[in-house]
Amino acid sequence: MSNKDSKLWGGRFTEATDEFVEQFNASVGFDKRLFKQDILASRAHAQMLAHIGVLNDKDCDALLQALDKIETEIEAGEFNWKSSLEDVHMNIEARLTELVGEAGKRIHTGRSRNDQVATDVRLYLREAIEEIDARIESLQQAILKIAEQESGTIMPGFTHLQVAQVITFGHHMLAWFEMIQRDRSRLHQCLVSTNVMPLGSAALAGSGFNLDREFVAKKLNFASITHNSLDAVSDRDFAIEFCAFGAILFAHLSRIAEELVLWTSTQFNFIELPDRFCTGSSIMPQKKNPDVPELVRGKTSRVYANLFALLTLMKSQPLAYNKDNQEDKEPLFDTVDTVHDCVVAFANMLPHITVNREVLLNAVQQGYATATDLADYLVQKKVPFRDAHEVVGKTVKYAIQQNKRLDELRLDELQKFSPSISDDVFEILSLEGSVVSKNTYGGTAPARVKEQIELAKQRMKEFA
Ligand code: ARG
Repeated sequence: MSNKDSKLWGGRFTEATDEFVEQFNASVGFDKRLFKQDILASRAHAQMLAHIGVLNDKDCDALLQALDKIETEIEAGEFNWKSSLEDVHMNIEARLTELVGEAGKRIHTGRSRNDQVATDVRLYLREAIEEIDARIESLQQAILKIAEQESGTIMPGFTHLQVAQVITFGHHMLAWFEMIQRDRSRLHQCLVSTNVMPLGSAALAGSGFNLDREFVAKKLNFASITHNSLDAVSDRDFAIEFCAFGAILFAHLSRIAEELVLWTSTQFNFIELPDRFCTGSSIMPQKKNPDVPELVRGKTSRVYANLFALLTLMKSQPLAYNKDNQEDKEPLFDTVDTVHDCVVAFANMLPHITVNREVLLNAVQQGYATATDLADYLVQKKVPFRDAHEVVGKTVKYAIQQNKRLDELRLDELQKFSPSISDDVFEILSLEGSVVSKNTYGGTAPARVKEQIELAKQRMKEFA
């Protein structure tokens, strides 16, 4: 059979497509995922063609009914996808013609697969962004819930993974919240870039028909329409932006994952994950492995790779549409799925962690975490900070030799290092005193943490 008979574009061809090329060229295996969007856009396009008088109402109605039927067929798994028809767009168009004859052949008036696919991907991503945004909000809520429960829980704060100063667990949770909050604002920015309609750009030049693009945009609920047809059919920035959002989100999720993995280790034992989020070892009976955070950490690699794939895909592409762009879908879909699943995994798991408050407290006590507080105390007693730092360094060295915590040293022992020390020092050597004193805006004092929790709840609403 010649292409003239079997292909929607067969008119100028004299031989059939090479069998291998047919498979090589086909994208329907993955772009059928866009069927809903493709049908949605076709409905709006058909209605617009009728509205401007290019299509009669009878044909338009027939098309709309057939599109409904096709949607039902696909959803029921009864649609016969053919790779010989290349992609989702031509599969649906061919079926339209099967169902309604002539009218089906008119749907592609004033339209190209180039503006069609660009529109479908934007519709798809817009929906995906909304779904992901809701999942991220749940994750933020889970983090805030822990922050509330643990706003006064003492834990070591680290720099260089060495105990640095006393902080509260709630404060640590709020740091996670901030990372995710910025990711969310990037996601919303990406929604703005995505929510622009290319349809009506046709193949590359615009159309000779007097298409009412605003009419279509309104039907499809797009915020605006593209300003240049060449750019509109070739632009995939919005998808790159989404993958960049995903990459940065995963920078954060992988940091959270890493802390969860560390904290659940026997050595740290700061928290426990519920059994149902962990697995065992097939050989070592004692093991309870933190698979979920490890997988999130691991999946960071594919999300980074997807961003790089799209950047490389677009690099040096001449205007306008090139078939290269068919390669945009798998990295984008994979990013959507991976972001979605990992955010859900954390949002489901975090509300059920157990925080080992005793262990956290003990970890701070071992770490000389109030050393800076002691230096600050000396400064208040008019000792210059550099000298205070030196004095406290020596005091810590002595305490380590004595195998004592700072607050276990007697006043006379402390006074050997500085005569400026008096018995009010023990207040500031207490862990509670230390955190309460960090009362700068955004600091770890429990009152400040509570303040930020309330503010965080308000800031989340800004996205609604
Ligand atoms: N399957 C194609 C894609 O994903 C659709 C557009 C094809 N356009 C073309 N003129 N061959 O990009």
